[in-house]
Amino acid sequence: MRHIMSYDIYIVGIGIKWIEHITLEVDRVLGFCKEILYIERAPGIEEYFAEKADFVTNLTDLYSEDSERTETYHEMATRVVDSALEHSPVAFALYGHPTIYAYPPFLVREMAASLGLSVKLLPGISALDCLFCDLAIDPSVNGIQMFEATDLLLREHPINTAAATVIWQIGSLETALFSSARSAASRFDRFRDYLLRFFPEHHPIYAVYSQPHPMLKSQVHKFEISKIEQFSTVLHSAVTLYLPPRMPSEVKNVELLSKLQDPNYLRNLTAT
Ligand SMILES: C[S@@+](CC[C@H](N)C(=O)[O-])C[C@H]1O[C@@H](n2cnc3c(N)ncnc32)[C@H](O)[C@@H]1O
Repeated sequence: MRHIMSYDIYIVGIGIKWIEHITLEVDRVLGFCKEILYIERAPGIEEYFAEKADFVTNLTDLYSEDSERTETYHEMATRVVDSALEHSPVAFALYGHPTIYAYPPFLVREMAASLGLSVKLLPGISALDCLFCDLAIDPSVNGIQMFEATDLLLREHPINTAAATVIWQIGSLETALFSSARSAASRFDRFRDYLLRFFPEHHPIYAVYSQPHPMLKSQVHKFEISKIEQFSTVLHSAVTLYLPPRMPSEVKNVELLSKLQDPNYLRNLTAT
């Protein structure tokens, strides 16, 4: 199928599980791009991209130990835009979903706008989607809130314990620098103390590493907040935390509740 309208840059999510999460839409778009620039380390992914486009560039190698992650993101965005100026259309492929806890796509959009280049964002399966399946959770039951781990501590966001909580990027807690080193157990002290402002010490945390490849299984570790330092070795850069609500929230508006099954009330809500 031909594309109806072409953009200079496609920013696409490729999901979490190797090439198995790539949507038909993204697969089709990659097939007409001249270059694919990507952030992903999975073995075999380069070969898949090489079948799609003449030029394939792995931007993951731009990360270096102790460097500022934002500087690396600027470098990545510049490479994508330069490539589009040279031979559009190009694709910028990122694991997961391209706008969920991912800064480079926003830099690309800004740079592209200032140069008159058009950009299209295409969704991918996020680590959040995988977490819902790995833990068999429906986020609508109690509602859900999400925080970035370091941002939670910086802004001291209040946590609503009646809703579920998802915490991203625990593996890069308390630093803006890139590091592939394992965390020290004491790294999580401030984080644990912050959670204990809202939850009792026995409240469970689920640390989820969702299946990154069909040959590997998802890993889920469940532990009490007060024991987090014992799990420092499993809290790596591809882990997301989930905390269930303390207790299900109660219905407060009983007057509205009484109307939910009332056909006459429904008639008031709908246009005739
Ligand atoms: C920079 S963000 C990118 C998120 C990505 N855009 C997405 O939609 O999933 C990196 C964070 O995603 C989460 N993550 C990435 N891979 C994961 C996996 N296989 N299992 C669980 N969480 C993962 C972790 O919270 C990690 O710190």
